[in-house]
Amino acid sequence: MDVTVTFTVNGQEKTITSDPQRPLLDVLREELHLTGTKYGCGEGRCGACTVLMDGQRVLSCVTPVAQADKQRITTIEGLATGGSLHPVQEAFLAEGAMQCGYCTPGMILTCVALLAKNPKPTDEEIAEEMNVNLCRCNGYVKILNAVRRAAEKMQR
Ligand code: FES
Ligand code: FES
Repeated sequence: MDVTVTFTVNGQEKTITSDPQRPLLDVLREELHLTGTKYGCGEGRCGACTVLMDGQRVLSCVTPVAQADKQRITTIEGLATGGSLHPVQEAFLAEGAMQCGYCTPGMILTCVALLAKNPKPTDEEIAEEMNVNLCRCNGYVKILNAVRRAAEKMQR
């Protein structure tokens, strides 16, 4: 039976009616047209679908939409404010930390969540936190540099 779910997405309240088990990823992409969140594996193994739920990263492909009820969701489309990129987005651009870009939204959101709870991560902590996010282009060195750059910039 369908349920009604109300949540905030990038600062805007949304109400949808859906099968409660439908993946949040499907709702974001197909109902709300927020296609920056990517479908990779569909089974919680690649991180392409990462979004923030109340500031915590979640894998939206394995998150039933019912879990998002009354929560605050942030997707890659919601990071920039007032026409300015988020410092993590700027750092990924400055380091050229993307090739095809498919993993990039998930990488950036995982980095945002990491730096919110650990503003000065070691390289080991970065690797540990981000190892759920896979990059098929093998851009890990530049991604690590981007996370370091973002951490430095956000401490200033
Ligand atoms: S698409 Fe969600 S983890 Fe791969
Ligand atoms: S830049 Fe292509 S998958 Fe990471």
